[in-house]
Amino acid sequence: MGLAVRVEPSVEKFVTAPLRKMLIDGKWIEAASGKTFETVDPATGKVLARVAEGDAEDVDRAARAARRAFDSGPWPRMAPAARQKILLKLADLIEAHGLELAQLETLDNGKSLGESQAVDIPAAAETFRYYAGWVNKVTGETNPTDPAFFNFTLREPVGVCGQIIPWNFPLLMAAWKLAPALACGNTCVLKPAEQTPLTALRLGELLQEAGVPDGVVNIVPGFGPTTGGAIVKHPLIDKVAFTGSTEVGKEIHRETAHTLKRVSLELGGKSPNIVFADADVTEAVKGALVGVFFNQGEVCCAGTRLFVEEKLHDEFADAVSKAASTMKQGHGLEAGTQVGPLVSQEQLERVTGYLEIGKKEGAKVLTGGERHTAPGLEGGYFVKPTVFTGVRNDMRIAQEEIFGPVVSVIPFKNEDDAVLQGNDTFYGLAAGVWTRDVSKAHRVARAIRAGTVWVNCYNVFDVMAPFGGYKQSGYGRELGRYALDLYTQVKSVWMRI
Ligand code: NAI
Ligand code: MG
Repeated sequence: MGLAVRVEPSVEKFVTAPLRKMLIDGKWIEAASGKTFETVDPATGKVLARVAEGDAEDVDRAARAARRAFDSGPWPRMAPAARQKILLKLADLIEAHGLELAQLETLDNGKSLGESQAVDIPAAAETFRYYAGWVNKVTGETNPTDPAFFNFTLREPVGVCGQIIPWNFPLLMAAWKLAPALACGNTCVLKPAEQTPLTALRLGELLQEAGVPDGVVNIVPGFGPTTGGAIVKHPLIDKVAFTGSTEVGKEIHRETAHTLKRVSLELGGKSPNIVFADADVTEAVKGALVGVFFNQGEVCCAGTRLFVEEKLHDEFADAVSKAASTMKQGHGLEAGTQVGPLVSQEQLERVTGYLEIGKKEGAKVLTGGERHTAPGLEGGYFVKPTVFTGVRNDMRIAQEEIFGPVVSVIPFKNEDDAVLQGNDTFYGLAAGVWTRDVSKAHRVARAIRAGTVWVNCYNVFDVMAPFGGYKQSGYGRELGRYALDLYTQVKSVWMRI
Protein backbone atom coordinates (compact mmCIF):
# COMPACT_ATOMS: atom_id res chain seq x y z
CA MET A 1 0.00 0.00 0.00
CA GLY A 2 3.05 2.25 0.01
CA LEU A 3 2.48 3.32 3.59
CA ALA A 4 5.11 3.93 6.24
CA VAL A 5 3.35 1.37 8.42
CA ARG A 6 2.26 -1.90 6.86
CA VAL A 7 -1.20 -3.15 7.68
CA GLU A 8 -2.15 -6.56 8.98
CA PRO A 9 -2.86 -9.13 6.23
CA SER A 10 -6.41 -9.42 7.57
CA VAL A 11 -6.94 -5.68 7.02
CA GLU A 12 -5.56 -5.86 3.49
CA LYS A 13 -7.90 -8.78 2.81
CA PHE A 14 -10.87 -7.00 4.31
CA VAL A 15 -10.53 -3.86 2.22
CA THR A 16 -9.53 -5.49 -1.06
CA ALA A 17 -12.48 -7.92 -1.22
CA PRO A 18 -14.60 -7.15 -4.29
CA LEU A 19 -17.55 -6.19 -2.10
CA ARG A 20 -18.22 -5.75 1.61
CA LYS A 21 -21.77 -7.00 2.04
CA MET A 22 -24.44 -6.07 4.55
CA LEU A 23 -25.56 -8.23 7.48
CA ILE A 24 -29.23 -9.15 7.55
CA ASP A 25 -30.68 -12.02 9.55
CA GLY A 26 -27.26 -13.56 10.08
CA LYS A 27 -26.37 -13.58 6.39
CA TRP A 28 -23.94 -11.40 4.47
CA ILE A 29 -25.82 -10.27 1.39
CA GLU A 30 -25.76 -7.76 -1.44
CA ALA A 31 -28.21 -4.88 -1.58
CA ALA A 32 -31.60 -5.81 -3.03
CA SER A 33 -30.95 -3.21 -5.73
CA GLY A 34 -27.42 -4.50 -6.33
CA LYS A 35 -26.14 -0.98 -5.70
CA THR A 36 -22.74 -0.36 -4.14
CA PHE A 37 -20.70 2.64 -3.02
CA GLU A 38 -17.07 3.40 -2.34
CA THR A 39 -15.40 4.41 0.88
CA VAL A 40 -12.13 6.29 0.58
CA ASP A 41 -8.94 6.69 2.55
CA PRO A 42 -9.21 10.38 3.44
CA ALA A 43 -5.43 10.72 3.75
CA THR A 44 -5.01 9.98 0.04
CA GLY A 45 -8.46 10.49 -1.45
CA LYS A 46 -8.12 7.02 -3.00
CA VAL A 47 -10.80 4.35 -2.94
CA LEU A 48 -10.38 1.97 -0.03
CA ALA A 49 -13.24 -0.51 -0.37
CA ARG A 50 -16.54 -1.12 -2.11
CA VAL A 51 -19.60 -1.60 0.05
CA ALA A 52 -23.18 -2.78 -0.54
CA GLU A 53 -25.53 0.20 -0.50
CA GLY A 54 -28.76 -0.33 1.39
CA ASP A 55 -31.99 1.48 0.83
CA ALA A 56 -35.63 1.09 1.80
CA GLU A 57 -35.96 -2.54 0.74
CA ASP A 58 -32.86 -3.62 2.64
CA VAL A 59 -33.96 -1.70 5.71
CA ASP A 60 -37.34 -3.43 5.45
CA ARG A 61 -35.65 -6.85 5.37
CA ALA A 62 -33.44 -5.87 8.29
CA ALA A 63 -36.37 -4.50 10.31
CA ARG A 64 -38.39 -7.67 9.70
CA ALA A 65 -35.45 -9.85 10.74
CA ALA A 66 -34.93 -7.78 13.89
CA ARG A 67 -38.68 -7.90 14.61
CA ARG A 68 -38.73 -11.70 14.32
CA ALA A 69 -35.62 -11.99 16.47
CA PHE A 70 -37.30 -9.82 19.09
CA ASP A 71 -40.80 -11.29 18.96
CA SER A 72 -39.89 -14.96 18.85
CA GLY A 73 -36.11 -15.38 18.88
CA PRO A 74 -33.86 -16.45 21.74
CA TRP A 75 -32.15 -13.12 22.53
CA PRO A 76 -34.74 -11.41 24.75
CA ARG A 77 -35.69 -14.77 26.29
CA MET A 78 -32.19 -15.97 27.06
CA ALA A 79 -31.07 -16.46 30.65
CA PRO A 80 -29.27 -13.21 31.53
CA ALA A 81 -26.05 -15.02 32.32
CA ALA A 82 -25.97 -16.49 28.81
CA ARG A 83 -26.51 -13.10 27.19
CA GLN A 84 -23.85 -11.64 29.42
CA LYS A 85 -21.36 -14.30 28.42
CA ILE A 86 -21.85 -13.49 24.74
CA LEU A 87 -21.30 -9.76 25.27
CA LEU A 88 -18.19 -10.45 27.35
CA LYS A 89 -16.87 -12.69 24.61
CA LEU A 90 -17.50 -9.90 22.10
CA ALA A 91 -15.48 -7.48 24.24
CA ASP A 92 -12.63 -10.00 24.32
CA LEU A 93 -12.81 -10.48 20.56
CA ILE A 94 -12.62 -6.72 19.96
CA GLU A 95 -9.51 -6.59 22.11
CA ALA A 96 -7.99 -9.63 20.46
CA HIS A 97 -8.47 -7.95 17.07
CA GLY A 98 -7.38 -4.56 18.43
CA LEU A 99 -4.58 -3.78 16.00
CA GLU A 100 -6.59 -4.94 13.00
CA LEU A 101 -9.61 -2.84 13.98
CA ALA A 102 -7.42 0.18 14.76
CA GLN A 103 -5.77 0.03 11.35
CA LEU A 104 -9.10 -0.37 9.63
CA GLU A 105 -10.51 2.60 11.56
CA THR A 106 -7.53 4.76 10.69
CA LEU A 107 -7.71 3.85 7.01
CA ASP A 108 -11.42 4.59 6.76
CA ASN A 109 -11.64 7.68 9.00
CA GLY A 110 -8.15 9.20 8.84
CA LYS A 111 -7.55 9.52 12.59
CA SER A 112 -4.07 8.63 13.83
CA LEU A 113 -3.35 5.00 14.60
CA GLY A 114 -2.24 6.07 18.07
CA GLU A 115 -5.73 7.43 18.74
CA SER A 116 -7.47 4.42 17.24
CA GLN A 117 -5.35 2.10 19.36
CA ALA A 118 -5.39 4.07 22.59
CA VAL A 119 -8.95 5.36 22.51
CA ASP A 120 -11.45 4.03 19.98
CA ILE A 121 -10.88 0.30 20.05
CA PRO A 122 -10.26 -0.26 23.78
CA ALA A 123 -13.18 2.03 24.64
CA ALA A 124 -15.43 0.03 22.29
CA ALA A 125 -14.42 -3.23 24.01
CA GLU A 126 -14.93 -1.64 27.43
CA THR A 127 -18.40 -0.44 26.45
CA PHE A 128 -19.53 -3.99 25.66
CA ARG A 129 -17.89 -5.29 28.83
CA TYR A 130 -19.52 -2.62 30.99
CA TYR A 131 -23.02 -3.23 29.63
CA ALA A 132 -22.49 -6.98 29.86
CA GLY A 133 -22.22 -6.24 33.57
CA TRP A 134 -25.68 -4.67 33.56
CA VAL A 135 -27.44 -7.63 31.91
CA ASN A 136 -28.41 -9.18 35.25
CA LYS A 137 -28.78 -5.95 37.20
CA VAL A 138 -31.64 -4.25 35.38
CA THR A 139 -34.45 -4.78 37.83
CA GLY A 140 -38.01 -3.72 38.54
CA GLU A 141 -39.53 -2.82 41.90
CA THR A 142 -42.40 -3.73 44.16
CA ASN A 143 -44.72 -0.98 45.35
CA PRO A 144 -46.45 -0.79 48.75
CA THR A 145 -49.96 -0.40 47.36
CA ASP A 146 -53.28 -1.26 48.99
CA PRO A 147 -52.65 -4.72 50.52
CA ALA A 148 -55.55 -6.12 48.56
CA PHE A 149 -53.22 -5.93 45.58
CA PHE A 150 -49.65 -6.64 44.67
CA ASN A 151 -48.03 -4.19 42.27
CA PHE A 152 -44.65 -4.69 40.72
CA THR A 153 -42.77 -3.33 37.72
CA LEU A 154 -40.93 -5.10 34.95
CA ARG A 155 -38.18 -3.36 33.03
CA GLU A 156 -38.60 -4.68 29.54
CA PRO A 157 -36.63 -4.03 26.36
CA VAL A 158 -38.08 -1.44 23.97
CA GLY A 159 -37.99 -3.81 21.00
CA VAL A 160 -36.38 -3.12 17.63
CA CYS A 161 -33.88 -0.26 17.78
CA GLY A 162 -32.83 1.67 14.68
CA GLN A 163 -29.40 3.13 15.31
CA ILE A 164 -27.85 5.72 13.04
CA ILE A 165 -24.26 6.66 13.75
CA PRO A 166 -21.70 9.19 12.47
CA TRP A 167 -18.21 8.87 11.04
CA ASN A 168 -16.06 10.54 13.72
CA PHE A 169 -15.77 7.54 16.07
CA PRO A 170 -17.21 4.77 13.90
CA LEU A 171 -16.60 1.64 15.98
CA LEU A 172 -17.01 3.41 19.30
CA MET A 173 -20.35 4.91 18.28
CA ALA A 174 -21.51 1.46 17.18
CA ALA A 175 -20.54 0.19 20.65
CA TRP A 176 -22.30 3.05 22.47
CA LYS A 177 -25.46 2.18 20.57
CA LEU A 178 -25.36 -1.62 20.40
CA ALA A 179 -23.99 -2.49 23.84
CA PRO A 180 -26.78 -1.08 26.05
CA ALA A 181 -29.44 -2.09 23.52
CA LEU A 182 -28.22 -5.69 23.47
CA ALA A 183 -27.66 -5.86 27.21
CA CYS A 184 -31.33 -4.96 27.74
CA GLY A 185 -32.49 -7.64 25.29
CA ASN A 186 -33.38 -5.48 22.27
CA THR A 187 -32.65 -6.23 18.63
CA CYS A 188 -31.05 -3.72 16.27
CA VAL A 189 -30.80 -2.29 12.79
CA LEU A 190 -27.55 -0.35 12.69
CA LYS A 191 -26.58 2.09 9.95
CA PRO A 192 -22.95 3.13 9.94
CA ALA A 193 -22.03 6.44 8.28
CA GLU A 194 -21.46 6.24 4.53
CA GLN A 195 -17.96 7.69 4.99
CA THR A 196 -16.82 5.00 7.45
CA PRO A 197 -18.73 1.70 7.21
CA LEU A 198 -15.81 -0.71 7.56
CA THR A 199 -15.28 -1.28 11.27
CA ALA A 200 -19.01 -1.70 11.88
CA LEU A 201 -19.05 -4.41 9.20
CA ARG A 202 -16.05 -6.12 10.78
CA LEU A 203 -17.82 -5.84 14.13
CA GLY A 204 -20.75 -7.69 12.55
CA GLU A 205 -18.44 -10.67 11.94
CA LEU A 206 -17.21 -10.54 15.52
CA LEU A 207 -20.80 -10.39 16.83
CA GLN A 208 -21.49 -13.61 14.97
CA GLU A 209 -18.30 -15.20 16.28
CA ALA A 210 -19.28 -14.22 19.83
CA GLY A 211 -22.60 -16.05 19.39
CA VAL A 212 -25.12 -13.24 18.94
CA PRO A 213 -28.07 -15.04 17.29
CA ASP A 214 -29.13 -14.32 13.70
CA GLY A 215 -31.30 -11.25 13.21
CA VAL A 216 -30.40 -9.66 16.55
CA VAL A 217 -28.01 -7.18 14.94
CA ASN A 218 -28.52 -6.22 11.33
CA ILE A 219 -26.04 -3.84 9.74
CA VAL A 220 -27.15 -1.88 6.70
CA PRO A 221 -24.61 0.54 5.25
CA GLY A 222 -25.84 3.35 3.04
CA PHE A 223 -26.65 7.02 2.80
CA GLY A 224 -28.57 9.28 5.16
CA PRO A 225 -31.80 10.19 3.39
CA THR A 226 -32.26 6.70 1.87
CA THR A 227 -31.03 4.09 4.37
CA GLY A 228 -31.26 6.35 7.42
CA GLY A 229 -34.57 7.79 6.29
CA ALA A 230 -36.02 4.30 5.85
CA ILE A 231 -35.02 3.36 9.40
CA VAL A 232 -36.62 6.49 10.78
CA LYS A 233 -39.90 5.78 8.96
CA HIS A 234 -40.14 2.02 9.37
CA PRO A 235 -43.28 0.99 11.29
CA LEU A 236 -41.66 -2.15 12.78
CA ILE A 237 -38.89 -0.15 14.43
CA ASP A 238 -39.73 0.96 17.98
CA LYS A 239 -36.89 3.30 18.76
CA VAL A 240 -34.36 5.46 16.95
CA ALA A 241 -31.00 6.39 18.45
CA PHE A 242 -29.06 8.96 16.48
CA THR A 243 -25.72 10.71 16.74
CA GLY A 244 -24.92 13.38 14.16
CA SER A 245 -25.82 16.86 13.05
CA THR A 246 -28.48 18.94 14.80
CA GLU A 247 -30.14 19.51 11.43
CA VAL A 248 -30.69 15.78 10.84
CA GLY A 249 -31.61 15.31 14.51
CA LYS A 250 -34.48 17.77 14.06
CA GLU A 251 -35.56 15.99 10.88
CA ILE A 252 -35.62 12.68 12.79
CA HIS A 253 -37.58 14.29 15.61
CA ARG A 254 -40.20 15.50 13.11
CA GLU A 255 -40.33 12.30 11.06
CA THR A 256 -40.64 9.90 14.01
CA ALA A 257 -43.76 11.75 15.15
CA HIS A 258 -45.71 9.70 12.58
CA THR A 259 -44.98 6.43 14.35
CA LEU A 260 -44.22 7.87 17.82
CA LYS A 261 -40.95 6.01 18.09
CA ARG A 262 -38.87 6.60 21.15
CA VAL A 263 -35.98 8.81 20.14
CA SER A 264 -32.62 9.71 21.62
CA LEU A 265 -30.46 12.34 19.95
CA GLU A 266 -26.81 13.19 20.50
CA LEU A 267 -26.19 16.22 18.31
CA GLY A 268 -23.77 19.04 17.69
CA GLY A 269 -22.00 21.40 20.02
CA LYS A 270 -20.11 24.66 20.27
CA SER A 271 -18.61 24.09 23.64
CA PRO A 272 -17.03 26.86 25.70
CA ASN A 273 -13.64 26.09 27.21
CA ILE A 274 -13.17 28.79 29.84
CA VAL A 275 -9.71 29.69 31.10
CA PHE A 276 -9.43 31.99 34.12
CA ALA A 277 -6.26 33.95 34.76
CA ASP A 278 -5.68 31.99 37.97
CA ALA A 279 -5.47 28.65 36.10
CA ASP A 280 -2.40 26.46 35.81
CA VAL A 281 -1.54 27.93 32.41
CA THR A 282 0.68 25.09 31.20
CA GLU A 283 -2.05 22.54 31.89
CA ALA A 284 -4.74 24.80 30.45
CA VAL A 285 -2.81 25.18 27.19
CA LYS A 286 -2.54 21.40 26.94
CA GLY A 287 -6.25 21.12 27.71
CA ALA A 288 -7.13 23.70 25.07
CA LEU A 289 -5.16 21.73 22.47
CA VAL A 290 -6.70 18.38 23.42
CA GLY A 291 -10.06 20.12 23.55
CA VAL A 292 -10.00 21.15 19.96
CA PHE A 293 -7.43 19.19 17.97
CA PHE A 294 -8.16 15.70 19.27
CA ASN A 295 -9.55 13.64 16.38
CA GLN A 296 -8.93 16.58 13.97
CA GLY A 297 -11.57 18.53 15.83
CA GLU A 298 -14.22 16.16 14.49
CA VAL A 299 -15.66 15.83 17.96
CA CYS A 300 -19.14 16.93 18.99
CA CYS A 301 -17.95 18.17 22.39
CA ALA A 302 -14.80 19.91 21.09
CA GLY A 303 -13.90 23.06 23.03
CA THR A 304 -14.17 25.30 19.99
CA ARG A 305 -14.91 28.54 21.83
CA LEU A 306 -11.84 29.14 23.91
CA PHE A 307 -12.74 31.90 26.37
CA VAL A 308 -9.69 33.41 28.04
CA GLU A 309 -9.76 36.03 30.80
CA GLU A 310 -8.64 39.37 29.35
CA LYS A 311 -5.35 39.74 31.19
CA LEU A 312 -4.22 36.26 30.10
CA HIS A 313 -5.69 36.40 26.59
CA ASP A 314 -2.75 37.39 24.38
CA GLU A 315 -0.18 35.22 26.13
CA PHE A 316 -2.55 32.24 26.09
CA ALA A 317 -3.56 32.62 22.45
CA ASP A 318 0.11 32.80 21.46
CA ALA A 319 0.97 29.67 23.43
CA VAL A 320 -1.90 27.68 21.90
CA SER A 321 -1.04 28.94 18.44
CA LYS A 322 2.65 28.10 18.79
CA ALA A 323 1.87 24.55 19.91
CA ALA A 324 -0.76 24.12 17.18
CA SER A 325 1.71 25.19 14.48
CA THR A 326 4.10 22.36 15.41
CA MET A 327 1.52 19.55 15.37
CA LYS A 328 2.50 16.90 12.88
CA GLN A 329 0.04 16.16 10.10
CA GLY A 330 0.19 13.08 7.98
CA HIS A 331 -1.35 9.74 7.14
CA GLY A 332 -2.85 8.30 10.29
CA LEU A 333 -0.77 5.15 9.86
CA GLU A 334 2.52 7.10 9.83
CA ALA A 335 4.39 7.15 13.10
CA GLY A 336 4.20 10.52 14.86
CA THR A 337 1.06 11.80 13.14
CA GLN A 338 -0.92 13.99 15.54
CA VAL A 339 -3.55 15.50 13.26
CA GLY A 340 -4.85 13.36 10.40
CA PRO A 341 -7.03 14.36 7.47
CA LEU A 342 -10.68 15.31 7.73
CA VAL A 343 -13.00 12.46 6.88
CA SER A 344 -14.16 13.52 3.41
CA GLN A 345 -13.98 16.01 0.59
CA GLU A 346 -17.32 17.37 1.81
CA GLN A 347 -15.98 17.93 5.31
CA LEU A 348 -12.83 19.56 3.87
CA GLU A 349 -15.03 21.98 1.94
CA ARG A 350 -17.21 22.69 4.96
CA VAL A 351 -14.24 23.44 7.20
CA THR A 352 -12.26 25.51 4.68
CA GLY A 353 -15.52 27.34 3.94
CA TYR A 354 -15.68 28.36 7.61
CA LEU A 355 -12.03 29.48 7.49
CA GLU A 356 -13.02 31.93 4.75
CA ILE A 357 -16.13 33.01 6.65
CA GLY A 358 -14.00 33.69 9.74
CA LYS A 359 -11.55 35.81 7.77
CA LYS A 360 -14.41 37.77 6.18
CA GLU A 361 -15.97 38.33 9.60
CA GLY A 362 -12.72 40.00 10.64
CA ALA A 363 -11.16 37.27 12.77
CA LYS A 364 -7.39 37.07 12.74
CA VAL A 365 -5.57 33.86 11.82
CA LEU A 366 -2.78 33.26 14.34
CA THR A 367 -1.81 29.97 12.76
CA GLY A 368 -3.19 27.68 10.07
CA GLY A 369 -6.21 29.07 8.32
CA GLU A 370 -5.90 26.93 5.20
CA ARG A 371 -5.81 23.50 3.68
CA HIS A 372 -2.52 21.64 4.07
CA THR A 373 -1.15 20.61 0.68
CA ALA A 374 2.50 19.90 1.47
CA PRO A 375 4.05 17.14 -0.68
CA GLY A 376 2.50 13.84 0.30
CA LEU A 377 -0.62 15.48 1.71
CA GLU A 378 -2.02 17.02 -1.46
CA GLY A 379 -4.39 14.15 -2.26
CA GLY A 380 -5.83 14.05 1.26
CA TYR A 381 -8.30 16.24 3.10
CA PHE A 382 -5.85 17.95 5.45
CA VAL A 383 -6.57 21.26 7.16
CA LYS A 384 -3.88 22.98 9.22
CA PRO A 385 -4.64 23.33 12.92
CA THR A 386 -6.10 26.82 13.07
CA VAL A 387 -6.28 29.42 15.80
CA PHE A 388 -8.47 32.49 15.30
CA THR A 389 -8.28 35.54 17.56
CA GLY A 390 -10.27 38.75 17.39
CA VAL A 391 -13.43 36.63 17.50
CA ARG A 392 -16.71 37.88 18.94
CA ASN A 393 -19.13 35.33 20.28
CA ASP A 394 -21.82 36.42 17.83
CA MET A 395 -19.72 35.67 14.72
CA ARG A 396 -20.72 32.65 12.67
CA ILE A 397 -17.42 30.88 13.41
CA ALA A 398 -18.30 31.15 17.12
CA GLN A 399 -21.93 30.07 16.74
CA GLU A 400 -21.92 27.33 14.10
CA GLU A 401 -20.35 23.92 14.45
CA ILE A 402 -17.28 23.70 12.20
CA PHE A 403 -16.17 20.15 13.06
CA GLY A 404 -12.53 20.57 12.13
CA PRO A 405 -9.25 21.64 13.75
CA VAL A 406 -10.34 25.23 14.28
CA VAL A 407 -10.53 27.17 17.54
CA SER A 408 -11.79 30.69 18.21
CA VAL A 409 -10.14 32.50 21.11
CA ILE A 410 -12.50 34.98 22.74
CA PRO A 411 -11.66 37.30 25.66
CA PHE A 412 -13.89 37.71 28.72
CA LYS A 413 -13.89 40.23 31.57
CA ASN A 414 -14.94 38.31 34.66
CA GLU A 415 -16.82 35.24 35.89
CA ASP A 416 -20.28 36.58 35.03
CA ASP A 417 -19.15 37.55 31.55
CA ALA A 418 -17.61 34.09 31.01
CA VAL A 419 -20.86 32.38 31.98
CA LEU A 420 -22.98 34.78 29.94
CA GLN A 421 -20.92 34.33 26.78
CA GLY A 422 -20.37 30.63 27.42
CA ASN A 423 -24.12 30.05 27.55
CA ASP A 424 -24.83 32.30 24.59
CA THR A 425 -25.29 29.44 22.08
CA PHE A 426 -28.08 27.15 20.93
CA TYR A 427 -25.95 24.20 21.90
CA GLY A 428 -25.29 22.69 25.31
CA LEU A 429 -23.18 19.60 24.96
CA ALA A 430 -20.07 20.27 27.04
CA ALA A 431 -17.83 22.87 28.63
CA GLY A 432 -14.43 23.24 30.25
CA VAL A 433 -13.37 25.40 33.19
CA TRP A 434 -9.76 26.10 34.16
CA THR A 435 -9.09 27.71 37.53
CA ARG A 436 -7.30 27.05 40.81
CA ASP A 437 -10.24 28.53 42.73
CA VAL A 438 -12.41 25.61 43.85
CA SER A 439 -15.45 27.73 44.66
CA LYS A 440 -15.33 29.42 41.30
CA ALA A 441 -15.03 26.05 39.59
CA HIS A 442 -18.18 24.86 41.38
CA ARG A 443 -20.11 28.01 40.58
CA VAL A 444 -19.25 27.97 36.88
CA ALA A 445 -19.84 24.22 36.55
CA ARG A 446 -23.38 24.80 37.86
CA ALA A 447 -24.03 27.93 35.82
CA ILE A 448 -23.08 26.47 32.46
CA ARG A 449 -26.00 24.85 30.66
CA ALA A 450 -24.36 21.75 29.22
CA GLY A 451 -24.55 17.99 29.68
CA THR A 452 -20.88 17.63 30.63
CA VAL A 453 -18.53 20.05 32.39
CA TRP A 454 -14.83 19.32 32.71
CA VAL A 455 -12.88 21.16 35.40
CA ASN A 456 -9.12 21.39 34.84
CA CYS A 457 -9.35 18.70 32.20
CA TYR A 458 -11.08 18.22 28.83
CA ASN A 459 -12.42 15.41 26.65
CA VAL A 460 -12.22 12.89 29.49
CA PHE A 461 -14.57 9.94 29.01
CA ASP A 462 -15.48 6.80 30.85
CA VAL A 463 -18.25 4.37 30.01
CA MET A 464 -19.54 4.89 33.56
CA ALA A 465 -20.12 8.63 33.14
CA PRO A 466 -23.27 9.80 31.33
CA PHE A 467 -22.93 11.84 28.15
CA GLY A 468 -25.50 13.90 26.26
CA GLY A 469 -26.84 17.32 25.53
CA TYR A 470 -28.76 20.25 26.95
CA LYS A 471 -30.64 22.57 24.59
CA GLN A 472 -30.20 21.83 20.88
CA SER A 473 -27.39 19.35 21.52
CA GLY A 474 -30.09 16.71 21.90
CA TYR A 475 -31.76 14.65 24.59
CA GLY A 476 -31.25 11.34 26.31
CA ARG A 477 -28.08 10.27 28.09
CA GLU A 478 -25.76 7.62 26.75
CA LEU A 479 -23.25 5.68 28.83
CA GLY A 480 -23.49 4.75 32.47
CA ARG A 481 -26.76 3.45 33.89
CA TYR A 482 -28.58 6.25 32.06
CA ALA A 483 -28.43 4.42 28.73
CA LEU A 484 -30.53 1.66 30.28
CA ASP A 485 -33.44 4.11 30.37
CA LEU A 486 -33.12 4.59 26.62
CA TYR A 487 -33.34 0.87 25.93
CA THR A 488 -35.96 -0.28 28.43
CA GLN A 489 -39.57 0.52 29.16
CA VAL A 490 -41.46 -0.01 32.36
CA LYS A 491 -44.49 -2.24 32.75
CA SER A 492 -46.63 -1.99 35.87
CA VAL A 493 -48.30 -5.27 36.83
CA TRP A 494 -51.26 -5.41 39.29
CA MET A 495 -52.38 -8.60 40.95
CA ARG A 496 -55.38 -9.03 43.21
CA ILE A 497 -54.37 -10.99 46.25
P1 NAI B 1 -25.15 13.83 9.35
O1 NAI B 1 -25.95 14.20 10.53
O2 NAI B 1 -25.76 14.05 8.00
O3 NAI B 1 -24.73 12.29 9.41
C1 NAI B 1 -24.73 11.48 10.57
C2 NAI B 1 -25.44 10.17 10.27
O4 NAI B 1 -26.80 10.43 9.94
C3 NAI B 1 -24.88 9.40 9.07
O5 NAI B 1 -24.98 8.02 9.30
C4 NAI B 1 -25.83 9.80 7.96
O6 NAI B 1 -25.89 8.87 6.90
C5 NAI B 1 -27.16 9.86 8.69
N1 NAI B 1 -28.19 10.71 8.06
C6 NAI B 1 -28.01 11.82 7.30
N2 NAI B 1 -29.20 12.30 6.91
C7 NAI B 1 -30.16 11.50 7.41
C8 NAI B 1 -31.58 11.48 7.36
N3 NAI B 1 -32.26 12.40 6.67
N4 NAI B 1 -32.25 10.50 8.01
C9 NAI B 1 -31.57 9.57 8.72
N5 NAI B 1 -30.23 9.53 8.80
C10 NAI B 1 -29.52 10.48 8.17
O7 NAI B 1 -23.78 14.61 9.43
P2 NAI B 1 -22.72 14.89 8.25
O8 NAI B 1 -23.42 15.46 7.07
O9 NAI B 1 -21.89 13.72 8.04
O10 NAI B 1 -21.87 16.04 8.92
C11 NAI B 1 -22.38 17.38 8.95
C12 NAI B 1 -22.09 18.04 10.25
O11 NAI B 1 -22.77 17.36 11.28
C13 NAI B 1 -20.64 18.04 10.71
O12 NAI B 1 -19.91 19.08 10.12
C14 NAI B 1 -20.82 18.22 12.18
O13 NAI B 1 -21.03 19.58 12.44
C15 NAI B 1 -22.08 17.46 12.49
N6 NAI B 1 -21.80 16.10 13.01
C16 NAI B 1 -21.92 15.89 14.36
C17 NAI B 1 -21.58 14.68 14.88
C18 NAI B 1 -21.67 14.41 16.35
O14 NAI B 1 -20.92 13.60 16.86
N7 NAI B 1 -22.61 15.00 17.07
C19 NAI B 1 -21.06 13.59 14.06
C20 NAI B 1 -21.05 13.87 12.65
C21 NAI B 1 -21.39 15.11 12.17
MG1 MG C 1 -13.97 6.34 4.35
